[in-house]
Amino acid sequence: MEKAGEVLQEGQAKLLLDKKNIFYNPVQEFNRDLSIAVLSQYSKERSAESGLRILEALSATGLRSIRYAKEVPGVAEVLANDIAAEAVESIRRNAAYNEVGSIVKPSHEDATMVMYQNRKTKFDAVDLDPYGCPSIFLDGAVQCLNDNGLLLVTATDMAILAGNFPQTCYTKYGSVSLKSKACHEIALRILLQCIAGHAARYGKCIVPLLSVSADFYIRVFVKVYTSKSACKLNTSNLAMVYQCVGCESMTLQPLGITTDKNQQKLPQVPAVDKLCEFCQHKHHLGGPIWIGPLHDKDFVHRILAEIDSEDDNGTKKLGTIIRIRGVLHMVYEELEVPLYYQLDRLTSTIRVVVPPMVQFRSALLNAGYKVSYSHANKTSIKTDAPNHVLWDIIRAWEKEHPVKREKLPDKSPGLAILNGISVTKVSFEKHDDAVPFSQQKKLRRFQVNPVAFWGPGSKSTVMMTQEAHDKYLSKKKRNQNKKRKKEEQHSADDPSNEEKRGKITEEDACA
Ligand SMILES: C[S@@+](CC[C@H](N)C(=O)[O-])C[C@H]1O[C@@H](n2cnc3c(N)ncnc32)[C@H](O)[C@@H]1O
Ligand SMILES: [Zn+2]
Repeated sequence: MEKAGEVLQEGQAKLLLDKKNIFYNPVQEFNRDLSIAVLSQYSKERSAESGLRILEALSATGLRSIRYAKEVPGVAEVLANDIAAEAVESIRRNAAYNEVGSIVKPSHEDATMVMYQNRKTKFDAVDLDPYGCPSIFLDGAVQCLNDNGLLLVTATDMAILAGNFPQTCYTKYGSVSLKSKACHEIALRILLQCIAGHAARYGKCIVPLLSVSADFYIRVFVKVYTSKSACKLNTSNLAMVYQCVGCESMTLQPLGITTDKNQQKLPQVPAVDKLCEFCQHKHHLGGPIWIGPLHDKDFVHRILAEIDSEDDNGTKKLGTIIRIRGVLHMVYEELEVPLYYQLDRLTSTIRVVVPPMVQFRSALLNAGYKVSYSHANKTSIKTDAPNHVLWDIIRAWEKEHPVKREKLPDKSPGLAILNGISVTKVSFEKHDDAVPFSQQKKLRRFQVNPVAFWGPGSKSTVMMTQEAHDKYLSKKKRNQNKKRKKEEQHSADDPSNEEKRGKITEEDACA
């Protein structure tokens, strides 16, 4: 994003700023760039003769719609809708200023109404980018999409999705969230099961093309197609998650099993013993979550090839291309195994020093298992190894770096795990595949916070100029400092539950 006088430039769009307060969140540039990369690939691969008809149901300034019109090939129309009159006025002015008035059509309506009104006319792509939770828009979205249409969905209510408010998560998404180190991927899988459920009501199925956890939000790109028979396979793509309250071992309980003859049968339950087999603690149960693939790897690969060829031609267009390349490479390397553990969390259970990632990954590979990172977590271990193998490796590591057992309380998960019996032959010798391509090539795999006190914005900050946005950030910073001082004072008196004081932030939620 470049700022030039009264005009902001992002990609090929120029955004007029005036005294009116119009919301613009610069942090979402990556979200918009990524959407352009996905939509462009989707557009190229469509067999339809007619141009792409897109709905941006919650458009704010119209920036995203204008960028789609200018940067995605083959776009015939973008309906840029918003419920706020000021936003619609901004869409109108900016569409004209960018000379895409014939493609970008402003619409002043409740998003749900637009989608229901277009159940017959339909769109090829529907983009939902609300504040917080998108679930109220999903019923309309799946109905107004053409067959094999593309649904693009953002969710920013990470504290809910990441397990701080499991009951609220159920009311919004029909799934109980869990506090887990894998919370970002669980969030993606909760959203996908929610979309799959809405689609299935109309005999439609989903194929996730790309599912990304970034910054303070998640974003999924999902193809929706009609097949009543395929909908019946949905139960095999859904699972409950048992998480041990002691050692945090996770076990999936699928809701269905697909047989060799592509028939569905009921699974045998429960997938865990009454007490955790590793530490003898009880379990929490979350879900259901989507356990099908998060991405279509071939599709991701084709986007990467396209980005590279654009680079070779010197036509690099996207401002956040370096990050997009890094994230997509990580996504491409991800194992198709649901969820992951966090290395420092595994070791903290028995209070042993953390091994270098390359050694831990080597141990898994040397034992004959696969391992990858998740793009959602820097220290993630995604593996097809069963839980007991992970604990065997941790125990082997502890043999080389002994811990003081007397420091571990009786009946603690750590002590139980240390006393467990290992069956895996463990070698920490460096394995050739222990460092993935994206790391070898030093691609930008994880983003540092671009601005202080960044975030999704909120309804109270809906309409904002860049100047107002800067002011808002500095005021927010001042207030947070004041609040922090007050709370530090408070907690000196009463170090009780933070949730009671409403102090839980997204970072807390996912830390
Ligand atoms: C996060 S902003 C959208 C940002 C935009 N997609 C972008 O990339 O810049 C959310 C917008 O949704 C609008 N909105 C909220 N509820 C709505 C509804 N029910 N129907 C239509 N628009 C709505 C708000 O006015 C706000 O402009
Ligand atoms: Zn346990």
